Amino acid sequence: MSSTPSPRQESRLTISSIAKLYADGERIAMLTAYDYPTARILDDAGIPMLLVGDSLGQVMLGYDSTVRVTMTEMLHHTKAVVRGTKHSLVVADMPFLSYGVTPEGSLENAGILMRDGGAGAVKLEGGERSARTIETIVRAGIPVMSHIGLTPQSIHQLGGHRVQGKTREAGRQLLSDALAVQQAGAFAIVLELVPEQLAAAITERLTIPTIGIGAGAGCSGQVQVVTDLLGLSAEFTPKHARHYVELYTIIKGAAEAYRADVAAGAFPTREQSPQIDEVALNEILGRTPADRAEMAQVGGIPLDRDL
Ligand code: KIV
Repeated sequence: MSSTPSPRQESRLTISSIAKLYADGERIAMLTAYDYPTARILDDAGIPMLLVGDSLGQVMLGYDSTVRVTMTEMLHHTKAVVRGTKHSLVVADMPFLSYGVTPEGSLENAGILMRDGGAGAVKLEGGERSARTIETIVRAGIPVMSHIGLTPQSIHQLGGHRVQGKTREAGRQLLSDALAVQQAGAFAIVLELVPEQLAAAITERLTIPTIGIGAGAGCSGQVQVVTDLLGLSAEFTPKHARHYVELYTIIKGAAEAYRADVAAGAFPTREQSPQIDEVALNEILGRTPADRAEMAQVGGIPLDRDL
């Protein structure tokens, strides 16, 4: 909960900047962002990497899973986050089935998020099974972040939000997955819901950073869903998250106070209301001496019924 300001970056970070942070042994903070105003704040706060996660399906759009998120939605939100940032590296999630079906399709969609969305990298789920896809995209010059462990797009296959890699077989598979995506050219790996000790062991065996979420402190960095960090949800906070502020309560309190002020006529006051000087108002309302003379001559209907 340190309030030490991060040093300002003069230009936008790239995957080389992230590699340097990693080489310097700095723990890397990443947050999700989905909209322009929040992205501006997170960028100003010096968060080096912002993920336009497909978690936006649940936390921004009210879907029941990330599976419903489309390329159009990802592109729309990626553009907003890019417009809101000057320094952070923006990583755009590739939505369900936008990759891994055909190499051409994967590359085309990654290209759309980079070229049209303005992202600096893409993220996609899957270890060994996604290695060829990662290779194809990286070869085209697009940086890829991998995502293994709990992969929400496979939630129907995984059978729920469970910690991954807890058996000999599953743990070894995670190690193989991490090595496969590193070999394929990923510049970083998200480890989601992996036991702390296993995540630390994976991290030690890699030469690229691991970014943990529910994977303990032994990762090279951490990522959190920003609405969890801000306490923006009324219902559910995952066990691995910490509220740094209670925005749900704060925003609800503000909305209730506003509603009460409007009902009581206490908002707006003169302070929030634009004013016009008397002379200009009289001209508009036909109250000048010239207006009065003209009205008397033509016998017309006064502009101002008070005349
Ligand atoms: O979509 C997302 O927010 C993510 C994070 C949980 C890493 O993939």
